[in-house]
Amino acid sequence: MENMIEVKGLTKTFKSYKKGKGLSGTIKTLFKREVTEIEAVKDISFNIRPGEIIGYIGANGAGKSTTIKMMTGILNPTSGFVKVDGRVPYEKRQENAKHIGVVFGQKTQLWWDLPVGETFAILKEVYQVPDAFYAEQMKYFDEIFELSEFMGQTVRTLSLGQRMRADLAASMLHNPKVLFLDEPTIGLDVMVKERIRKAIKDMNKRYGTTILLTTHDMSDIEELCHRIIIIDKGQLLYDGGIDTIRRDFGYERKIVFDLRYDDAEVVGAILQQMRDEIQGCTPENMTYTLSESQLSVIFNRNEINISSIMNYVLQHLNVIDFSVKDMDIEAIVKRF
Ligand SMILES: Nc1ncnc2c1ncn2[C@@H]1O[C@H](COP(=O)(O)OP(=O)(O)OP(=O)(O)O)[C@@H](O)[C@H]1O
Ligand SMILES: [Mg+2]
Repeated sequence: MENMIEVKGLTKTFKSYKKGKGLSGTIKTLFKREVTEIEAVKDISFNIRPGEIIGYIGANGAGKSTTIKMMTGILNPTSGFVKVDGRVPYEKRQENAKHIGVVFGQKTQLWWDLPVGETFAILKEVYQVPDAFYAEQMKYFDEIFELSEFMGQTVRTLSLGQRMRADLAASMLHNPKVLFLDEPTIGLDVMVKERIRKAIKDMNKRYGTTILLTTHDMSDIEELCHRIIIIDKGQLLYDGGIDTIRRDFGYERKIVFDLRYDDAEVVGAILQQMRDEIQGCTPENMTYTLSESQLSVIFNRNEINISSIMNYVLQHLNVIDFSVKDMDIEAIVKRF
């Protein structure tokens, strides 16, 4: 098959009805409702081939989850269509569910009151997973996600990291052809994130699973995705390799300094002086902002040595703390 996922002219408009204020407003609303429309997804098209791992990224409210809900059959599009593995998910929701796996990081897909172990036993029946394959999968999940740690606990008692590990294992149990992972690493520590990334890579390698994931973590993208699709305000902004993005935007670094004071004039004068003294420190290559007592210096690391900026600021300003940040997704979207 040519494409595992086909999205064409996909559009979703939410209608919400404004309610007037107070009792008279409520009564008025009964007769004449004021409609506001939110165009969450606007005319998006893309194709995904079998075995691809795609990063579906964008700022908060860009329309990522809404797209995934249409791809998994939870929502109907307003116009346009989606095909996953040859099926239209919102027309054949049950049939589609057998062939896909879904994780919404913000909300568990598991039964809140059931022990984790029972949950897997039920899913085995629902998906009719053969005994031998079930045993193999559970052994693997236990190695990578350490499920036995909490197999006897009900889902509601799990910590966020444990819950996400259980959710991921559940989404992968029946070896779906396609995995939709909506923020599978949100709020997790580095160790758990690493395990989740490894499992995603393993599934893809072992079974050729097609994976679409959303994330706000640039390291997820760097480590997993060969191709990214960026959307903003419901519209497609970029569809292509990660290399182009890294080449065009990966040179930027940001250092955030916590200062002991917030005198904009003093800080401004010293940064002006820094421009004169450090080579390459032109306004194109270095900008800064001061908010309260936090100074952010954004610079092009190809043109300016990070240590010269660090040295200068540490010598001339009273710094309490600092952190160095990689380029983040929101900043990249803003640049487009
Ligand atoms: N059921 C709904 N009714 C009305 N508006 C909705 C509904 N679901 C989503 N929206 C709106 O659609 C837009 C896109 O939301 P969506 O959840 O798809 O964004 P997102 O890209 O997943 O954001 P985030 O990164 O915060 O998860 C937002 O403006 C949101 O408020
Ligand atoms: Mg979302």
